[in-house]
Amino acid sequence: MSALLALSGVEADIGGSRILRGVSLEVAGGEVVCLMGRNGVGKTTTLRCIMGLRAVRAGSLSLGGKPLGGMATALRAFAGIGYVPQGRDIFPHLTVEENLRVGILLHPRPRAAARDDLERVYALFPVLKSMLARKGGVLSGGQQQQLAIARALLTRPKLLMLDEPTEGIQPSIIEEIGETLKRLRKEGGLAILLVEQYVDFCREVGDRFYAMDRGAITISGAVSGLTDDVVRQHLQV
Ligand SMILES: Nc1ncnc2c1ncn2[C@@H]1O[C@H](COP(=O)(O)OP(=O)(O)O)[C@@H](O)[C@H]1O
Ligand SMILES: [Mg+2]
Repeated sequence: MSALLALSGVEADIGGSRILRGVSLEVAGGEVVCLMGRNGVGKTTTLRCIMGLRAVRAGSLSLGGKPLGGMATALRAFAGIGYVPQGRDIFPHLTVEENLRVGILLHPRPRAAARDDLERVYALFPVLKSMLARKGGVLSGGQQQQLAIARALLTRPKLLMLDEPTEGIQPSIIEEIGETLKRLRKEGGLAILLVEQYVDFCREVGDRFYAMDRGAITISGAVSGLTDDVVRQHLQV
């Protein structure tokens, strides 16, 4: 009812195979929702359907009560969906500052507001401020992930979608990213849909979880319900 993002019975095919078999989930403003599951179950496909990068054959998707069906990807971004794809996707030949400016270009605003927004992301990710002139491609994996999240935040999203942000990243930076997500939630408003296989990270930063298997949600609930039994039954290979 008050969900910011709502998916109902979403089905998608890739190359003649059914990949999503009726995915229903909701994310409310101010909550961190984890979408979990083994490799290949359809997590990334779900995010791509939300972003309009993959066609949906049945079901419905809405943002703030407005249907997303048929809306172009750029308009979904403009409507408030920030997407950090798996493997980040920063521009390696642009500097850190230029990468961040892309986020601003995508969502124009007065110069003073842009400066405030940049200061806000520097406060969230101090490491970026010390590397503004470096090329994105020379940053560590963790720094690139932080840059990708910062760039997405500069598009002023209502919903931030992150696809496996901890994948291949060193523990100290995973912890920093976790702290940042918690801070974003505490500051209120922003909804986060976090695709993640790292169970402890979900327990740490999530409010609710959905576990996915072969294109469908098998169990969902508060992350406090993410017991070792649930993990064994629904999330392990
Ligand atoms: N571009 C593609 N071409 C063919 N099959 C794909 C493509 N993308 C994804 N798939 C298949 O769809 C299924 C779900 O993939 P994906 O959504 O990436 O899973 P996850 O993110 O959960 O690991 C997998 O079986 C994968 O092989
Ligand atoms: Mg994936």
